[in-house]
Amino acid sequence: MSDPYFQNLFADRIGGANYGKGSEIYKFEKIKRAKRKALAEHPERTLVDFGIGENDEMAPESVRAVMAKEIHNPQNRGYADNGITAYKEAAARFMQRNFGVSLDPAKEINHSIGSKPALAMLPAAFINPGDVTLMTVPGYPVAGTHTRYYGGSVYRLPLLAANDFFPDLASIPADVCAQAKLLVLNYPNSPTGKLATRDFYQRVIEFAQRHQIVVVQDAAHILLSYGAPPLSFLSVPGAKDVGVEIHSMSKGFHMIGWRLGFVCGHERIVQAFADIKDNSDSGQFIAIQKAGAAALDDTTIPGQVREKYQRRLQKLVATLKKCGFACEVPGGTYFLYTPSPKGLADGTKFETAEAASQYLITEHSICTVPWDDAGAFLRFSVTYEAPAAEAEDALMAQTEARLKQIKPVF
Ligand SMILES: Cc1ncc(COP(=O)(O)O)c(C=O)c1O
Repeated sequence: MSDPYFQNLFADRIGGANYGKGSEIYKFEKIKRAKRKALAEHPERTLVDFGIGENDEMAPESVRAVMAKEIHNPQNRGYADNGITAYKEAAARFMQRNFGVSLDPAKEINHSIGSKPALAMLPAAFINPGDVTLMTVPGYPVAGTHTRYYGGSVYRLPLLAANDFFPDLASIPADVCAQAKLLVLNYPNSPTGKLATRDFYQRVIEFAQRHQIVVVQDAAHILLSYGAPPLSFLSVPGAKDVGVEIHSMSKGFHMIGWRLGFVCGHERIVQAFADIKDNSDSGQFIAIQKAGAAALDDTTIPGQVREKYQRRLQKLVATLKKCGFACEVPGGTYFLYTPSPKGLADGTKFETAEAASQYLITEHSICTVPWDDAGAFLRFSVTYEAPAAEAEDALMAQTEARLKQIKPVF
């Protein structure tokens, strides 16, 4: 294709005049292609798909019933702007009930069209050219991408097994701390599955105050906390003075595609977010916000979602352990993040997690997501489609049979 007349007009942040010409294939595209190849070459082999990071279920019937009713309500037809009071009030009740966090729904909570846009918009409130955002790696990159769009840069904080998958805040050079405006955290952490502790959050608050940094804690997976009750950053004294927490309806309520979440915490940061948001979108459809409010008020949903993914993680861990993997049920999320095999009993070697992942999908139709940012790890998601517990067991049996045959070496 010849270049359009506007080829030189693309902004540098997306590649400038070279935009659209790169041949680099991104990780998730490589996985998709390998999946297509495995399906085409081995139609007889069931694809065991641990690659998808999306809930496998629809939103609960009670939530869909509210949506079905509200979609016909003419009062819901217009722009929602910065959100309806009923949703903010339900969010405040949810924060109080689950985490003991008291928030003023009028000033300290604002809805967002999912947590992704909130992470994309918050840098606009703080980042000038030359400013720094501190971000954990591996992780969800959106706030970092937008930091760069505004002329800032990202300082990566590796989440290493040696540090128990916490960032080493003390290792950040003084000049970086001086330039840093945002610290973006995500606990329960995706992909490592690590839960935050009160002690860690206290250290984060001290760090933020000492270096005058705003904390953005991404709580997208918070309802998927196992073993320990879900912990909100805002429940730790002093947290509301230094930042905000972003909540999502996606994971904990099976409402991935509905696009709804909320930002809560320091009143002035919530206000700045609302101002940026008001200049970016016109709010989520009011019927969806009302259905979201009903979900937030339903005390039965989080337990059911949690129980399902915990059960699946337990089965997966038991299966992988039998095949040589050294893994434990994670503290949270629906991901198992586990060291990638270095090779196979037959002498095959894998230099990276990506190489191991490509082998598993193309040769054995087992789909995983590789991470090579801070050690070689594979992420297994338990959001595969299986209608009942027996189907889960059948999938685990297939996984075990295929892995035992190749004997991974670690
Ligand atoms: C860590 C993390 N943050 C945020 C998101 C975005 O979630 P939402 O659906 O609320 O936009 C995801 C989705 O995968 C995620 O894993």
